[in-house]
Amino acid sequence: MKVLVTYFSRSGNTEKIAKAIYREAALAHKAGLKKLEDITPGDMAGYDFIFMGSPLHSGSLAAPVKECLGRIQSRSGQKMAAFITHFAPAYPEQDMDGFTEPVKTACKANGIEYCGCFDCQGFLTESLHEAVQKKMNLSAGSGRIWSSR
Ligand SMILES: Cc1cc2nc3c(=O)[nH]c(=O)nc-3n(C[C@H](O)[C@H](O)[C@H](O)COP(=O)(O)O)c2cc1C
Repeated sequence: MKVLVTYFSRSGNTEKIAKAIYREAALAHKAGLKKLEDITPGDMAGYDFIFMGSPLHSGSLAAPVKECLGRIQSRSGQKMAAFITHFAPAYPEQDMDGFTEPVKTACKANGIEYCGCFDCQGFLTESLHEAVQKKMNLSAGSGRIWSSR
């Protein structure tokens, strides 16, 4: 089976998961690991199974991922699974799988079988601390969000 692991990642969290998935997939399959910006929608038609990775941006998949999903080119028999990283420790009342709606929609529109979603909390990069502090009304120095990994 030909497997593609593709992802968008700004600060490296989603890339770490992508590499871990790729390492496992490569043990048993012909696997490729590519940044989203390095593939064309047409490239995707050459794979049997696609892992699509994205950080959560404002409660949604990252814009480049959604944009790519909108232009995807498929062929019959393909399968796709999603993986997401996010800074929030957990969304107890939310189903992370709900954030993959754009993946499910793209799969449905293109006859691709959707195979589920993996999500994991990522380390919040230093450059985002201030923005998150402001958004959540936290005082500087509060370790509420990022004191533990
Ligand atoms: C513009 C922006 C918006 C974000 N919005 C959310 C959000 O709504 N919920 C959340 O849990 N994390 C949010 N994050 C945090 C990222 O999802 C998280 O740090 C992710 O692991 C980053 O992945 P990356 O290192 O692959 O870029 C946001 C980050 C950025 C840059």
